[in-house]
Amino acid sequence: MPMLIDTIDDATARAACARLANRPDALIEILHAVRRASGFVSDAAIATIADALNLSRAEVLGVVSFYHDFNRRPAPRHVLKICRAEACQASGGEAVATRLESAFASAADTIEIRSVYCLGNCALGPAALLDDRPIGRLDPDALIDELTVSGVLSGGVE
Ligand code: FES
Repeated sequence: MPMLIDTIDDATARAACARLANRPDALIEILHAVRRASGFVSDAAIATIADALNLSRAEVLGVVSFYHDFNRRPAPRHVLKICRAEACQASGGEAVATRLESAFASAADTIEIRSVYCLGNCALGPAALLDDRPIGRLDPDALIDELTVSGVLSGGVE
């Protein structure tokens, strides 16, 4: 009779654990290896790592959820980081962020919005970073138009 762990074993995670001798102190390095290979850290990977390192799933999940880099689902094609720090708040950043979060709510598989706290572009707030492109004086409607025209948001936004 197969054990439950046999049905959820993640080969990528198992190999990453084996390369690092199933050492619990190598957990973060193993998680990075899984993320690089798979693009995200799945439930099966968490269960496999917990089994291999003799940790509880809660311990592994605690580390995964603490760090932004360990995404739990396939990464969206684009990430929009919106500054929520003081200088950008003073230039209307919260209203801009709220507008974009609402507009992109139905496009979460395509574009993910993350809050960040200062991008070093305070003089041009509200500031954002679309993938690697800095955006100053962020105009939400102009960004929505740009992404719609360029085909990034093929299904439109709300
Ligand atoms: S406070 Fe927004 S870029 Fe510095």
